[in-house]
Amino acid sequence: MADETGLLDAGERLRPEELRALQLERLRASLRHAYAHVPFYREAFDKAGVLPEDCRSLADLALFPFTTKADLRANYPFGMFAVPRERVRRLHASSGTTGLPTVVGYTDNDLSVWADMVARSIRAAGGRPGDVVHVAYGYGLFTGGLGAHYGAERLGCTVVPASGGMTSRQVRLIQDLGPGVIMVTPSYMLTLLDEFERQGVDPRSTSLRVGVFGAEPWTESMRREIEERFAIDAVDIYGLSEVIGPGVAQECVETKDGLHVWEDHFYPEVVDPVTGEVLPEGERGELVFTSLTKEAMPIVRYRTRDLTRLLPGTARVFRRMEKITGRSDDMVILRGVNLFPTQIEEIVLRTPGVAPHFQLRLTREGRMDALTVRAEARPGATPEVREAAARSIAAAAKDGIGVSVSVEIVEPESLERSVGKIRRIVDLRPR
Ligand code: DLL
Repeated sequence: MADETGLLDAGERLRPEELRALQLERLRASLRHAYAHVPFYREAFDKAGVLPEDCRSLADLALFPFTTKADLRANYPFGMFAVPRERVRRLHASSGTTGLPTVVGYTDNDLSVWADMVARSIRAAGGRPGDVVHVAYGYGLFTGGLGAHYGAERLGCTVVPASGGMTSRQVRLIQDLGPGVIMVTPSYMLTLLDEFERQGVDPRSTSLRVGVFGAEPWTESMRREIEERFAIDAVDIYGLSEVIGPGVAQECVETKDGLHVWEDHFYPEVVDPVTGEVLPEGERGELVFTSLTKEAMPIVRYRTRDLTRLLPGTARVFRRMEKITGRSDDMVILRGVNLFPTQIEEIVLRTPGVAPHFQLRLTREGRMDALTVRAEARPGATPEVREAAARSIAAAAKDGIGVSVSVEIVEPESLERSVGKIRRIVDLRPR
């Protein structure tokens, strides 16, 4: 770390007490801004009987009401904006699985802060000014592509705006343009891996040193798989549109021990998902964010539905969040046992004879839900190897998670490949 101090920005060099003071000052200003300019917050604060002035310490944030995705939908499209639409320089939207998309907006200053935070993230990941950065997150209303793009430019990199898709061309670009850094969803990185192999190109032979992977949950086993197959460092980037996009938290390459939350701009809490009570550091629950500097769309205590816990900082002054296990939305309850797709990922990735591609099918048998794990055989896996893999996955699910699952080992290359965020669960239960 010592040799990197010169690379840290002003926020990263704050001492803990300076950081807390800055957070409180920014939090109070942000609550005032939201209350003064967004009718939704005025009503919600009034109903809860709190005023921005009641926030005298960081802990007082717990007095304020939560904001949910449903609130954003109810105020679609521009109702959550705290500035006149003319000052909004860009819009993004997150699709969501049902109903209206959520529209988010940025002022010039918001875009600049966002670029700074992504630049900080890429640097923490091991990227440096002068690197070529290959961005294979989707460009468009999704925040991944443009968010990564402007951050990499801000850091002083040469950006290749590849976006998602046209996979064979991606392999060519990576070979020809000499990127040191790739930014992409981990599932699309696996799609790229297949394509390298299809083209007979050794994925370990490229100029890539670092991958900055996020936008979906991924496990330590997936990290090992990607690091070994590509001979790179794989680190985790987290973010969500409602808070800003990618660059809310980032894992540092020197420690790879969870993601440092850029909490000089995004204040995290972890709450009990049922009672909403704030949990102490170290306890697992739902991540909640309050923006500290956003102008166009300040957000107060936003319920992310992402499950993790907060931990003290290591490589940076900021607190860390543990790698996300999953979203409460993606949790499957099978005969009373909670299960996340990441738990199956851990199992599939350590099973010989199967590729790191799998899908979960939920069906209903009588009144019971049933789960089938469909995992892809590695090319050349014999029928005996496939049968052993199926038995081993089922046994690991039973012993490790406590659920009975059926396992189907399907042909190589037969499961749909990801070009962006992967959908692990196919829900075939009758509505
Ligand atoms: O996925 C922003 C992003 C783009 C982050 C590129 C990282 C890289 P949304 O489309 O609004 O924004 O989806 C946000 O994705 O609430 C999490 O459930 C999930 N997610 C994002 N990053 C991670 C991660 C972008 N590193 C939702 N690990 C979030 C696990 C993640 N889940």
